[in-house]
Amino acid sequence: MNGRLAVISALTALSGAVALASSVSVLVSAQAAEPRPAAAQLISDAKNAGLTALPSPPSIPDAATGARIALGRRLFYENRVSQDGNVSCAHCHQAELAASDGLPKAIGVFGKLNPRNAPSVYNAGLQFKQHWRGDRESLEDQAEKSLLGPASFGNPDYAEPMGKLKAIPGYTEAFTAAFPGEKDPVTAKNWGVAIGAFERRLLTPGRFDAFLAGDEKSLSTEEKNGLRLFIGLGCVACHNGPGVGGGSFQKFGVVEDYWKETGSAPPDRGRADVTKDEADLYVFKTPMLRNVSKTAPYFHDGSVAELSRAVRIMGKVQLGRDLSDREARDLVAFLGSLTGAAPKEFSPLEPFPDPTQRK
Ligand code: HEC
Ligand code: HEC
Repeated sequence: MNGRLAVISALTALSGAVALASSVSVLVSAQAAEPRPAAAQLISDAKNAGLTALPSPPSIPDAATGARIALGRRLFYENRVSQDGNVSCAHCHQAELAASDGLPKAIGVFGKLNPRNAPSVYNAGLQFKQHWRGDRESLEDQAEKSLLGPASFGNPDYAEPMGKLKAIPGYTEAFTAAFPGEKDPVTAKNWGVAIGAFERRLLTPGRFDAFLAGDEKSLSTEEKNGLRLFIGLGCVACHNGPGVGGGSFQKFGVVEDYWKETGSAPPDRGRADVTKDEADLYVFKTPMLRNVSKTAPYFHDGSVAELSRAVRIMGKVQLGRDLSDREARDLVAFLGSLTGAAPKEFSPLEPFPDPTQRK
C-alpha cells in the first residue's frame, strides 16, 4: 500500500430508525514507516470496519444440555406437529439450500403462502432479532411462535401440537432428559428452548474466516477486490459483525423507493406494521450475508432472482450508486467467500415411531 492512506467511506447506521445515512469518511492509515503488504492491510481494514470471524459453536457443558440439543435437532425435522402432518421446520429450511427453501415466499400447511421469504437458519443465533421485520426476539421465541403461524404449522393453540408430541412414543422421555426436574416438560416453551439450543450450533465458517485469521491466500484477487469495495462503498456500515448483517434495523430504500427496482407490489411496509410507528416505514432488519450466494431469491419478498442484481439494487437504493459490471462482479465474488460448509448436525435423526405403533 506504499504507506498511502486508504479511505473508507462508511455510513453511520442509526439503528431502530429510518436510516439517516450520512456519509462520513474514516481515515485508516497504513503503518507509515513499514508499508504492509496489501493483503495484511486489507485484513486490518476489514476488522476496523467491523467485520469479524464466526465464533465456535457453544460448548456442551453437561448431559442435559446435550439432550436438549439432540431434542431440538429431532423437533426441527418433526412434521407430525403441523395441522396437515406434512410441515416441519426443515420443510422451509433445507440443507441443500443452505437452510432456506429456494422460493420467493415460503409455502406452509395446506399450501398456504407466507407473506415473506424464508431466510437461512445458519448463524441466525448471532442476530440481534429474528425475522425480516424483527418481530421475533430470539431463536426460542421464533420457534415457539411458529407452531401457531397460520402459514407455517397452522395450529389453533399450543395444546394441540403438545398433545401430538406426548402421543408419540419417546418424546416425553426425551423432554424429561432435556429438562430434568420439570413435572410436565412437554411444553411449547421447551420446544422453543430445545430448537434454539440446536440452532445455535449451526455455524458455517468458511474461507472469509480463514482470511480474517490471517490466511491471505484464502481469497482470490477478485474476492479481495470485492471485499475492498464492500468496505469502501459503505456496504459494511449496515452489513457487519460475524453474520455480515443481522445487527441493525435499516430503511430499505434510503436513496429511492425500493419497489421501483424490485417491482414489489404492493410494497411491504416493513417494521411500521409491527411497531405502528410511521418512522419505521420500509425499515427491515439488515440481513446476514453469510451463505448469501446459496439463498436465492433475494430480499424480504424474494422479488429478485440473481445475486448480481440484488447487489446492484443495494448500490442504487441504499448508497445512490450505479455499480459498474466489474464492481458488481467483484462484490458477488466476495459474497461467495461467505459460504461455509453445511453443519454435520443439520440432518435428521431416525424419527420416533408413530403413535399407532405404541405397545
Ligand atoms: C412454511 C415455511 C416455514 C416453516 C415451516 C418454518 N419457517 Fe422459519 N421462516 C420462514 C419464513 C417465511 C421466515 C421469515 C418470516 C418473516 O420474516 O416474516 C422464517 C424465519 C425464520 C428464522 C429467522 C431467520 C432470520 O434471519 O431472521 C428462523 C430462526 C427460523 N425461521 C427458524 C425456524 C424454525 C426453528 C422452524 C420450526 C419450528 C421454522 N423456522 C419453520 C419459513 C418457515
Ligand atoms: C443502509 C444500510 C444498507 C447498506 C448501506 C447496504 N445494505 Fe444490503 N441490505 C440492507 C437491508 C435493510 C436489506 C434487506 C432489504 C429487504 O427488506 O429485503 C439488505 C439486503 C441485502 C441483500 C439481500 C440479502 C438477502 O438475503 O436477500 C444483499 C445481497 C445485500 N444487501 C448486499 C449489500 C451490498 C453488496 C451493499 C453495498 C453495495 C449493501 N448491501 C449495502 C441494508 C443495507
